Amino acid sequence: MLLTTLIVCFFSDLAYAGFYKTQPDFVKTCVLHDPNFINCSTHAVQILFNKIPDGLPEIGLPPLDPLKLDRLQILQGGGGPVTVNASLTNITIRGFGKTDVLYNSVHPKTFDFLTKLHLDRLRLEGNYHLLGRILVIPLRGRGNCWFDAKNISIVAKSDVKMEKRHGFHFYNITGIHVKFDIGGLKFHMGNLFDGIKALEDSTNAYLNANWRPVAESLNPILTKTVEDIMLGILRTVFDNLPADFFLADLVD
Ligand SMILES: *[C@@H]1O[C@H](CO)[C@@H](O)[C@H](O)[C@H]1NC(C)=O
Ligand SMILES: *[C@@H]1O[C@H](CO)[C@@H](O)[C@H](O)[C@H]1NC(C)=O
Ligand SMILES: *[C@@H]1O[C@H](CO)[C@@H](O)[C@H](O)[C@H]1NC(C)=O
Ligand SMILES: *[C@@H]1O[C@H](CO)[C@@H](O)[C@H](O)[C@H]1NC(C)=O
Ligand SMILES: *[C@@H]1O[C@H](CO)[C@@H](O)[C@H](O)[C@H]1NC(C)=O
Repeated sequence: MLLTTLIVCFFSDLAYAGFYKTQPDFVKTCVLHDPNFINCSTHAVQILFNKIPDGLPEIGLPPLDPLKLDRLQILQGGGGPVTVNASLTNITIRGFGKTDVLYNSVHPKTFDFLTKLHLDRLRLEGNYHLLGRILVIPLRGRGNCWFDAKNISIVAKSDVKMEKRHGFHFYNITGIHVKFDIGGLKFHMGNLFDGIKALEDSTNAYLNANWRPVAESLNPILTKTVEDIMLGILRTVFDNLPADFFLADLVD
């Protein structure tokens, strides 16, 4: 059993300014009982994804491309091939602005969403502090790092409760389950082994050459990280954007 814990300090300067009382132009309304609903809602989610990378300051959503995070804490222990105690700070993630929405459905009774996304590229830069073991290699270091993933497919299932507040329906996002797959990964961790340069270069080269097992072994913790980031974004959006603007045929 893998023990995975993570703390994401998300949107530390979030300022609540009140929800949208009128329908913003980046929200497209679909009819849940229309046979063409999936096509309509796929486009509606794409329009939303085209808008939110610039942020929605009126509801406290910061820009998502680049997305800045103060800190990610990654702790993975147990019997697997990976033992990691790492923190990433001063993080910048680029690429969410070019998200392609391939599919979005909404369950007619539970209102859970199923969303399929594709990104050509996602790049993370930041400072890291790492102690651990990946593919049996002991790792230790602190410095700058970057990770560059390409051809990313994400399937996200969001659990929701439909709630009524202030005369509107709201999606309360109670959970999210993500599966993702990447087509390539390059990365560099600077100052590994506290600056023993030959060891740093050979270790980075070895791990890059074996990026697929590295990515697979980090998948549980990366999945949890993506889920926590997406949950923070979705909650900020849907706590402030009535579901009635998305679904024309909601009844009490
Ligand atoms: C899907 O929706 C888009 C945008 O609303 C529309 O242009 C397209 O014709 C629709 N496709 C089908 C198969 O209904
Ligand atoms: C992880 O590393 C931090 C900083 O080095 C340390 O304070 C903490 O005790 C470590 N946690 C575990 C579970 O090893
Ligand atoms: C934080 O990252 C930016 C680039 O993303 C860099 O210019 C800056 O020096 C970093 N700050 C620290 C304290 O490392
Ligand atoms: C991207 O990944 C998908 C599977 O997730 C694969 O079908 C496709 O061929 C890949 N495209 C490129 C350009 O590698
Ligand atoms: C969403 O539901 C949870 C669990 O029932 C509740 O604790 C939380 O306050 C709700 N969120 C909002 C914004 O109402």
